[in-house]
Amino acid sequence: MIDFKSIIANEISKVVSINQDEIKKSIEKPKGTENGDYAFPCFRLAKTLKKAPQAIATEIKENIQINENEITKVEVVGGYLNFFVNKELLAKEVLQEMANAEEYGKSAIGNGKNIVIDYSAPNIAKPFHIGHLRSTVIGAALYKIYKYLGYNVTGINHLGDYGTQFGKLIEGYKLWGNEYNIEENPIDELTKIYIRINQACKEDEQILENCRNNFKKLEDGDPYCVELWQKFRELSLKEFQKVYDLLGSKFDSWNGEAFYSDKMSEIVEILEKSGKLIESEGAKIVDLEDKGINTPCIIEKSNGSSTYATRDLAAIMYRARTYDFDKALYVTSYEQVLHFKQIFEVAKFLGLDEKYTNVLEHVSFGMVLLPTGKMSTREGTSVKLLDLLNEAISRAKLIIEQKNPELENKDEVAKRVGVGAVIFNDLANNRVKDEIFDWDTILNFQGETGPYIQYTYVRTKSVIEKAGGVPQVSTVDSKLLQDEYSIKLLKLIYDFEDVLVQVTDKNEPSILSRYLIDVAKAYSNFYNENKIINEDKELQDARVYLTYSVGKILSIGAGLLGIEMPERM
Ligand code: ARG
Repeated sequence: MIDFKSIIANEISKVVSINQDEIKKSIEKPKGTENGDYAFPCFRLAKTLKKAPQAIATEIKENIQINENEITKVEVVGGYLNFFVNKELLAKEVLQEMANAEEYGKSAIGNGKNIVIDYSAPNIAKPFHIGHLRSTVIGAALYKIYKYLGYNVTGINHLGDYGTQFGKLIEGYKLWGNEYNIEENPIDELTKIYIRINQACKEDEQILENCRNNFKKLEDGDPYCVELWQKFRELSLKEFQKVYDLLGSKFDSWNGEAFYSDKMSEIVEILEKSGKLIESEGAKIVDLEDKGINTPCIIEKSNGSSTYATRDLAAIMYRARTYDFDKALYVTSYEQVLHFKQIFEVAKFLGLDEKYTNVLEHVSFGMVLLPTGKMSTREGTSVKLLDLLNEAISRAKLIIEQKNPELENKDEVAKRVGVGAVIFNDLANNRVKDEIFDWDTILNFQGETGPYIQYTYVRTKSVIEKAGGVPQVSTVDSKLLQDEYSIKLLKLIYDFEDVLVQVTDKNEPSILSRYLIDVAKAYSNFYNENKIINEDKELQDARVYLTYSVGKILSIGAGLLGIEMPERM
């Protein structure tokens, strides 16, 4: 498809001394229509050229060669050079590209590059909570979007299946195992044991000591401890899978923390040799003061046990060797900012090539706040995610029953709408923002929600049905799509690939969610202002084809976010 930005950047690069890529990056999209479709700001040039931005813009304008079939007008406004693209060409290009709709916006820019995404990662024997949902949803969206752009992506579920809490669980199970039915209801029952043993540890130093020893025994391969650990892990995974089935989550690797149990001694040795590992109160730590991090990174506890950090360091080493990554992303809540700062610094002492240690990135996100406040496992007040998803589905079903009592397969539609609503809500805003989870907002069909996108999609379907199908693209006259509402839609559709690239630049799926809302709103305006089903058959064909294009963009875009479309609702 024609690349207006590159055309403009290429022309500008012939008359100023900045390279084309940089120019392309600085090109903006003006908000209103009066300032054209693209704008090149001349403010940065003003410094180097020691001239007023407006004078520079004028000079560039006078010297560039513009093909009028592509760019119809160039204007200087303030320090900007504004470009107006040929709208008929734009329409023609977009419609043509839609001939291969399933591939729309796909790209090869990621070819040959490896991306590792560490996401979801719930903890064995603990509830899969709403924070893990956010990680799962954000991670899965990034996964799909990188893949769509041609990257080779590996999704890793770095399960929390190791650590001192297992020493506690083993002790609790040893003491009271027969009182709890962990086969029937593993997470609930193990959580109860965990709360009880934590209480016991507070009251009795000896029990705490036993717990610590259990974990040490587990690391040393003691058969009884290993067997129990395996049982906890299997039962928990079976329960997590119910959530993954609802969300449609898939992972390429399930190597959790335990996978690294035999890979940590290498890390300790390397750090020891590097001279970075120091003793402090019996523990082995790496001091990071000089990196501006006041809390040292603990590599080995005083009883010789490994830590969450050590396992992550072993994972970095393993992933560099196994996946040769060009980017390694970690999707967790911002509560773990310090942890990732620490391990990313310590990773630089592992003797790894800088090409790996420079591309480790913490993709952090805000808390999910329920009307009742924040949740914590230890106090046992967390909301279970499976319950939450099921509630979303039954609430969606109620709404659907009211709106469309005749609808067939209501259950499947309710599932798509309910789950889609929860997913969209997780991706609707900047990920670092805390999110309030409120049922009425999430499921509002008229709000900026998942159901609104689905509803708009379903509307495009029924328009097409009324028109008797999608016309052949070759018969569509793009001159008939030159009104302001059609142009607005065409410009949005044209931008799709660019939006996906922006998502990967910032690892921010909300850029795509916002975009889909914009598309849905623009379609709603188009629908209200233009008579689609028309006596003028040619006009109808053009409008129906645009409607079809909107539907495609919505379903591809929502699909990349992990949201499935109902065909009716
Ligand atoms: N299991 C951890 C938690 O629930 C998240 C793990 C994230 N990934 C990692 N490589 N540290 O908090």
